[in-house]
Amino acid sequence: MTSITANLSTNLTGSITIAGDKSISHRSIILGALSIGETTVDGLLESQDILATISAMQAFGAEIEKKADNKWHIYGLGVGGLDEPNKVLDLGNSGTGVRLLLGVAASNPITSFFSGDESLSRRPMARVLKPLEMMGANFMSRTGGLLPLACIGPQTLQPIDYLLPVASAQVKSAILLAGLNTPGKTIVRESTPTRDHTERMLKQFGSEISIETDEKSQNIITLKGESELTGQDIVVPGDPSSAAFPMVAGILAEDSRIKIKNVGINPLRFGLFEILNEMGAKTELIQKYDGVGEPIADIVVETSKLKGMTVPASIAPRMIDEYPILAVAAACASGTTRMLGLQELRVKESDRLAAMANGLKACGITVEETSDSLTVHGTGGQIEGGARIQTQLDHRIAMSFLTLGLKAKNPIIIDNGTTINTSFPGFVETMKSLGANLNFSDKGKD
Ligand code: S3P
Repeated sequence: MTSITANLSTNLTGSITIAGDKSISHRSIILGALSIGETTVDGLLESQDILATISAMQAFGAEIEKKADNKWHIYGLGVGGLDEPNKVLDLGNSGTGVRLLLGVAASNPITSFFSGDESLSRRPMARVLKPLEMMGANFMSRTGGLLPLACIGPQTLQPIDYLLPVASAQVKSAILLAGLNTPGKTIVRESTPTRDHTERMLKQFGSEISIETDEKSQNIITLKGESELTGQDIVVPGDPSSAAFPMVAGILAEDSRIKIKNVGINPLRFGLFEILNEMGAKTELIQKYDGVGEPIADIVVETSKLKGMTVPASIAPRMIDEYPILAVAAACASGTTRMLGLQELRVKESDRLAAMANGLKACGITVEETSDSLTVHGTGGQIEGGARIQTQLDHRIAMSFLTLGLKAKNPIIIDNGTTINTSFPGFVETMKSLGANLNFSDKGKD
C-alpha cells in the first residue's frame, strides 16, 4: 500500500479536465455489449471499476477494445445474447458493476459466478437479488445475500412492477437491464428520483422506455422488453463526483481559482453544487451544452467563506457520493452543518458515516454521529490535522481527507492511495497541477 500525505496548500490555480463519469462509463460498456452493431465510447473512465466491468462483459462474449483513435469500440452481442462465462467474474471494489451485471446475467439462461474485494464482499446484494428473484432468477449467495454468489438465469423472466424500497439507481438499473430480455413491460417505481443515466442511455440506444410522474410524485419507469438495442457513439462527460474534490479544494484554499472543464451536470447528480452555493461558495457554470444525452458545463470556483447549514434528507439521492467531501467543506465553514438522511452511507465502499466522523475527530474537529445523520461543528478554516486516516478500501474517503489536508496546519496522511484508482486515476497528479502539496510516501514504508 502506498500512503499519501497532504500538506497545507494555497493559491490553487489552473484549468483541468476530470476523469470520465463512472456511472456513465459502466452503462456505456454494458449497453454497448447488449446492442447490435458497433458502439464507440469516447472519454471512458479507465479506472479499476470500469476495467472490471469490461472484463466481465468480455467473459460474457462481447468484443471490447481500445483502438488507435483513443476510443473504446464494442461489438455487441444483442439483448439475450450472452455466453456463459468460464470463470468467476471478479468485480473488485465496484458495487455498480456487480449490481448492474447481476441484472444482465439473470436475464440470460446461463449460470455465472460473481465475487469482489473485501469491501464489496461486505455490501448488501439482497436489494438486487430480491426483485430479480421475483422475475424468476435464482441465486446462491453467502448468508444475508453477500458475495461471492452464483446467478442462475431461467429460460425466460417474468416482468415485474416494483416500487424501490430504497432510493438506489443501481437497483433500478439492475431491474431495467433484466427487463431488456423479458417479455412484456417491466415497471420500476421510485418515490425519490435517483440518477437517471440508465434511462437516458436506454433511450439513446433505441429501447422503448417511458418515464411518468404520478399524483404522489413517484417516478414510473416503464420498459418494453425484447426489443433490440442499436450501437451508438457515446461521449462520456467528466464525473461530477470526481470534480467535487478539486472543486471543494479550490473553494477552501486561500487565493485560489480553478476551472474544471466538461463536467456532467445532470441535476440528479448535482446536489453538492447547490448546497455549496447555499453555504456561500463563489461558483460559476459556463458553456452549458447538452452532450450526447447528458448536460455538460465548465465549473469555475474560487476561494470562498462558507457558512454551515442544515442539509435536508430530501437532497441525499442527488448527492449521495458527495457527503464525505461535503463534511470536509463543513469542517472548514463557520457554524454548524447538519446532514440528514444518511443511512445509505453506511453501506457504501466503507461505512462512510463512521469513517468521516472518526477521521474528522482525529483531525481535531467536533462532530456528532447518529444512525443516519452527521453534525459537523465548523472551525472557520482552522484545521489541526496531524492524523493518519484508514481509508478502508474507500476511494472517496481517501480523496476527502487529502482535500482536508490541504487546509490543515499539520499534514494528513491516508494509509492507502491505491484505492483512489477505482474512480479517479491521476487524482494526485491533477491536484498537483493546480498547486496542491500532495506526496506519495516511499514505497514499501507501509
Ligand atoms: C451509482 C449509484 C449510487 C452511487 C454509486 C453509483 C450508479 O449507488 O452511490 O456510486 O452508477 O448507479 P446506489 O444505487 O446504491 O445509491
